[in-house]
Amino acid sequence: MAGSVLSAEALRVSLGPVDVLDGVSFSLARGETLGVVGESGCGKSMTALAAMGLLPQPHRLSGRLVFDGIELAGLDEASHRRLRGKRMAMIFQEPMTALNPVIPIGRQIAEMLEVHENASPTRARAQAVELLRQVGIASPAERAHATPHLLSGGMRQRAMIAMAIACRPDLLIADEPTTALDVSVQAQILDLLLELQRSQGMAMLFISHNLGVISAVSDQIMVMYAGRVAEIGPAADVLTRPGHPYTSGLMATMPDPSHRVAVLPTIEGQVPDLHHRLPGCAFAPRCPVAEARCHQAIPPMLGQHHQVACVRQDVAA
Ligand SMILES: Nc1ncnc2c1ncn2[C@@H]1O[C@H](COP(=O)(O)OP(=O)(O)OP(=O)(O)O)[C@@H](O)[C@H]1O
Ligand code: SF4
Ligand SMILES: [Mg+2]
Repeated sequence: MAGSVLSAEALRVSLGPVDVLDGVSFSLARGETLGVVGESGCGKSMTALAAMGLLPQPHRLSGRLVFDGIELAGLDEASHRRLRGKRMAMIFQEPMTALNPVIPIGRQIAEMLEVHENASPTRARAQAVELLRQVGIASPAERAHATPHLLSGGMRQRAMIAMAIACRPDLLIADEPTTALDVSVQAQILDLLLELQRSQGMAMLFISHNLGVISAVSDQIMVMYAGRVAEIGPAADVLTRPGHPYTSGLMATMPDPSHRVAVLPTIEGQVPDLHHRLPGCAFAPRCPVAEARCHQAIPPMLGQHHQVACVRQDVAA
């Protein structure tokens, strides 16, 4: 974990009786992107919210979660708030989660700089315009006066990104940042994030249910299922030699650009109800190669750099 910006070790988060995260471990190195993928409800957003200190209340958190040497588990709210915005920032699927619809975007960004960087109002205003230019907003000085509700979805997303990177955070968390956008705008926003990441050297935790998007941006990939890590490793290894049948299943649902199909294939079966966890591997009810032993104990994480939580790595695609 040395040198990592964000790392988790056996992280568990419980909301009431439900363990929404159950033994999650990963390490995100400075300047790298960890792509987090999995179907709806598998714990992607909970992982992000745990890092940001924005989990629903009340919750219980155990295990370790460390940001640049700072233990986040049990960190008081005031300290966590100081990290947010300045040293770690998050962009959401829906920009209105982070933007005030009726305050001009330039003003919102400038305020961020005044609060966290002690910038003077004049300098903050100039920097806000520069940030809007950086995220590809044309005529940024004029656009700075626009309120978010007057902007297009893509422009709002850019404004939220400008606000997130305003204080040059060490860690940017992007939770489905392109899902709500048109396909052409999606590609532009992905390119923008990658370019900003390279130029600023931020680490990025990039969340998507779309393995295609994840494969385009990630250095490392973490595949989550039912609040646990199914597989984690260097992106190229996970994509070319998936070790977990769930990863293989997700890959089979990726659209093949040479075949246009109306309905994408999905993995058969349902994601499990976390209120009623079964003993053993959470994927067992849907796994095409499950054996009796899979239903008995949670499979251990095997491997070094490329780790897989499956007892049958002999059969992976
Ligand atoms: N406020 C809440 N209270 C209780 N349980 C919740 C709450 N929010 C989410 N959950 C549960 O936590 C689990 C993990 O949810 P999470 O939002 O992390 O999923 P996700 O992987 O981000 O899914 P999606 O792709 O739909 O965004 C789910 O089972 C969900 O039902
Ligand atoms: S442990 Fe068993 S059920 Fe789980 S993914 Fe591997 S083979 Fe399938
Ligand atoms: Mg989510």
